[in-house]
Amino acid sequence: MAAEILYTIHFYVLFLLLTVPISSSFIGNGESYRRNVSLEMNPGLNSLLTPLPPGVGLLHVRALGKNNTLHYLLCSQGAPALLLVHTSSISSKVEVDWPAFLVQNTTGSLKVTPESSVLYSNALVFTRLWEYDDVNDTADPEHLPPSSFFQPYELQNFTWGDLNKTLDPTAHTALLCGRDASESFSNGSLCLKFSAFDVEGRDQGWPSLLHNANSSQLRVGLDGVVPRSNRSRFSLELQAVGDTQPMSRVDVLRSIDDEYTPSIFKVSQWVSSPVNSTSPVLGYAQWKPVAYRRPSPVFEDATPCRHSTPVNVAQLPPSGLVLAYFGVERQTTGLNMTFSITGDPFYNTTNYLSWTVLVGLGSPPVDSFSPLVLVIMAVGLGTPMLIILLGGVCVCVRKNRPQTQVYEPIN
Ligand SMILES: *[C@@H]1O[C@H](CO)[C@@H](O)[C@H](O)[C@H]1NC(C)=O
Ligand SMILES: *[C@@H]1O[C@H](CO)[C@@H](O)[C@H](O)[C@H]1NC(C)=O
Ligand SMILES: *[C@@H]1O[C@H](CO)[C@@H](O)[C@H](O)[C@H]1NC(C)=O
Ligand SMILES: *[C@@H]1O[C@H](CO)[C@@H](O)[C@H](O)[C@H]1NC(C)=O
Ligand SMILES: *[C@@H]1O[C@H](CO)[C@@H](O)[C@H](O)[C@H]1NC(C)=O
Ligand SMILES: *[C@@H]1O[C@H](CO)[C@@H](O)[C@H](O)[C@H]1NC(C)=O
Ligand SMILES: *[C@@H]1O[C@H](CO)[C@@H](O)[C@H](O)[C@H]1NC(C)=O
Ligand SMILES: *[C@@H]1O[C@H](CO)[C@@H](O)[C@H](O)[C@H]1NC(C)=O
Ligand SMILES: *[C@@H]1O[C@H](CO)[C@@H](O)[C@H](O)[C@H]1NC(C)=O
Ligand SMILES: *[C@@H]1O[C@H](CO)[C@@H](O)[C@H](O)[C@H]1NC(C)=O
Ligand SMILES: *[C@@H]1O[C@H](CO)[C@@H](O)[C@H](O)[C@H]1NC(C)=O
Ligand SMILES: *[C@@H]1O[C@H](CO)[C@@H](O)[C@H](O)[C@H]1NC(C)=O
Repeated sequence: MAAEILYTIHFYVLFLLLTVPISSSFIGNGESYRRNVSLEMNPGLNSLLTPLPPGVGLLHVRALGKNNTLHYLLCSQGAPALLLVHTSSISSKVEVDWPAFLVQNTTGSLKVTPESSVLYSNALVFTRLWEYDDVNDTADPEHLPPSSFFQPYELQNFTWGDLNKTLDPTAHTALLCGRDASESFSNGSLCLKFSAFDVEGRDQGWPSLLHNANSSQLRVGLDGVVPRSNRSRFSLELQAVGDTQPMSRVDVLRSIDDEYTPSIFKVSQWVSSPVNSTSPVLGYAQWKPVAYRRPSPVFEDATPCRHSTPVNVAQLPPSGLVLAYFGVERQTTGLNMTFSITGDPFYNTTNYLSWTVLVGLGSPPVDSFSPLVLVIMAVGLGTPMLIILLGGVCVCVRKNRPQTQVYEPIN
């Protein structure tokens, strides 16, 4: 009997020991894919021949894979834009005709060559910052009268800082900060922190999105802006331009694990995929529906956010990069990200908001259970099993006892 109990415990411990490595291999799903990431500013520019206007910069990130390359281009000419180009070559290049690029009316002034190697390209553009007076605390700008809205901040009219000064070639990051000319921005800024990744991982700070070698991240921060009303809330308008498949729908996935992003059980992904949804996703923008009201947030500083349904936009976004690469004959889609919900504090309480989005190629990364959660699950499921087994053993012991007593007299 003791041996049976020992076996049961033995089995249980083995089960626990086995689940942890198996779960880590689940988490490490695809972690072996690595890219060699390098950053360069203003590719091919001879600044003596073509001086850059203030606030214009073009960051090029090359993420070299085994037999393909991902190019990321972050540009502050006009509305800030991130262009992702995937090629099947390991020697594809970015070619910029700088004089034409700076005039902003010439399609083809920025190319990724050889053009036949381009497999996929898509741009995400930050076009407008909307501010509205939420007098009735509905946090629902889609159902507010136009009179509730202030004149939106056009990001194309912002004065942007020098990307070159904020470049960190080892961490693969850069910070692009800009401000509007109005009084509200005299001590405020809107910043985009760009990060490129060579391998799978997670950011330290919330929302700690899972990234991989095929993705890059933008963290938007709205800091120190003087709101135009005491009950002001903000929305950010995003537009996407693609070569074949526009980013046409947002999928919302649910999870039962919020370990990496406390209290958030959803992830939203704006995907570029063929009409038939069974086909694989070509590229995406992914986010958790949460913004934070302080730079180093605690739990209470999280505020939910919502996206509007993507719509077709008649015009190309006002980005020099998009015009130079795609030209005018492209389909544009757009949506608004609204920060905060009814009952949450207004912007004036902290004068800060941050929100993070991942932009990448292929299928978006999927959060899996962490080893901790798996161990908890194993204990949670294993303990009742152990009790049932032990119970069974005890019953057997009791049933067996009278039998041995019956046999004894015969002996
Ligand atoms: C990244 O993209 C490459 C090329 O399409 C693909 O082979 C690889 O599996 C992808 N890796 C991940 C982690 O998605
Ligand atoms: C990555 O690229 C750099 C510069 O091109 C090169 O020196 C380095 O050897 C590459 N590393 C790998 C692992 O390919
Ligand atoms: C690139 O490598 C992947 C596996 O790493 C392979 O599936 C694919 O066919 C290769 N593509 C080309 C164009 O060689
Ligand atoms: C672009 O602008 C320049 C100067 O503003 C002008 O000379 C040129 O004709 C324009 N090109 C096109 C294609 O509109
Ligand atoms: C706020 O609520 C009042 C009373 O319900 C209503 O009359 C008013 O139109 C609302 N204002 C806005 C901007 O929705
Ligand atoms: C932004 O810039 C565009 C083009 O330069 C101009 O037409 C528009 O009036 C400006 N908008 C604001 C709000 O300043
Ligand atoms: C960027 O900054 C570095 C050092 O700060 C400088 O050497 C380099 O010339 C700058 N590049 C551009 C394109 O301005
Ligand atoms: C900006 O900051 C300065 C110094 O802290 C202060 O004097 C000024 O009033 C502030 N401006 C606004 C619009 O808050
Ligand atoms: C905002 O609230 C403060 C204090 O409650 C008040 O002094 C100020 O006038 C209000 N500002 C606006 C624009 O309503
Ligand atoms: C923010 O607005 C609220 C609502 O009007 C007001 O009560 C509060 O005093 C304002 N807070 C600050 C710091 O101005
Ligand atoms: C989508 O699927 C339907 C039927 O499943 C098919 O008739 C249609 O051609 C497909 N569309 C595309 C773009 O593949
Ligand atoms: C974003 O919201 C504003 C204000 O409601 C609206 O005018 C604009 O069309 C929206 N943009 C998109 C792309 O839905």
